[in-house]
Amino acid sequence: MDNTSQILQRSTELFAGQRLLLVNPPADELTRELPADWHVWTWDYAVFLSLRGKLPEHQLSFSHICPAVEDLEGAILVMPKAIERAEYALAQMAPQLAAGCPLYLVGEKKGGITRAEKLLVDLGDGAEKLDSARHCQLWRTRVSGDAPPFDLAGWQQEVELDFPDQQVRLLSLPGVFSHGRLDEGSALLLEENAPLPAGKVLDFGCGAGVLSVVLARRNPDCRFELVDIDALALHCARQTLQRNGIEAQVYPTSGLSDVHGRYAAVVSNPPFHTGVRHDTSIAERFFNGVTRNLLPGGELRIVANGFLRYPPLIESHIGACRVLRENSRFKVYSAVAPG
Ligand SMILES: C[S@@+](CC[C@H](N)C(=O)[O-])C[C@H]1O[C@@H](n2cnc3c(N)ncnc32)[C@H](O)[C@@H]1O
Repeated sequence: MDNTSQILQRSTELFAGQRLLLVNPPADELTRELPADWHVWTWDYAVFLSLRGKLPEHQLSFSHICPAVEDLEGAILVMPKAIERAEYALAQMAPQLAAGCPLYLVGEKKGGITRAEKLLVDLGDGAEKLDSARHCQLWRTRVSGDAPPFDLAGWQQEVELDFPDQQVRLLSLPGVFSHGRLDEGSALLLEENAPLPAGKVLDFGCGAGVLSVVLARRNPDCRFELVDIDALALHCARQTLQRNGIEAQVYPTSGLSDVHGRYAAVVSNPPFHTGVRHDTSIAERFFNGVTRNLLPGGELRIVANGFLRYPPLIESHIGACRVLRENSRFKVYSAVAPG
């Protein structure tokens, strides 16, 4: 089990038999091994797929919004990578708890749990560290019961992006990639004006949806499908499309798990980079898998950090790899599947 689940298990007496909201858990066996009336909220589709068979359907929610659960006796947030995502989740959890109910925060030290006190202190009667083990900490506050109702609109950020040929209204939420701005790599990909082949286009790892909006306007003969692992990104992508008057399909996937069609093109600023400079294993899995989703003559067009050695991988799985654009940090690659 994940370290965060192990530290929760060490305090079984706090949780066993309780009606609990568990938010952002890892994909492990905690909900089976620690007997409680669990109600799980995840925004990670890989976690959702993994927990789906382990919990009754009504006790597991994959959404950008926390499910409403009545008569909770406590709630636990597993610290997300982005602190703004923790604030976003806590703002939805606290109003669901009656005064005096415990709200726990658990996480790894390297994952930012040391900020727990700051995150919890305004929600209740001060924050208390209950345990520290396996590089993790478990914190608790008892909520004051006067948290304001959650207002999604107040957390959404809308920015206007200017391109030479169009303006895009981009909607985003905390922790969604490149929140409230345009990523430099995505900007380079969108500098490329070469038309995409007509037909269905997959925007893999769509984030808030900027690539699809710009490319859909430039390629009126294409129909876009947007996929992402993150429920908040999917919500933002839907809102971005709507605000810009673009019709497209939006749905979750973990890698290519739910991508079953074949496409005239796949575009992406892909999420493969783990931070380990030479680790290209996730990228290779994707290039291998996506060949099954490209029509003959279909184009893969991606942007990546220039130092990543993608061209040999793209060539071994798809076909000749051309550099369409480059700057000091990024390269835009294009490869066409054999026709
Ligand atoms: C570099 S961002 C690009 C976002 C957007 N296309 C843009 O250009 O602003 C990569 C996206 O991939 C998503 N992602 C990460 N892992 C994924 C996976 N295993 N399957 C699908 N999407 C994933 C992330 O949530 C993120 O939104």
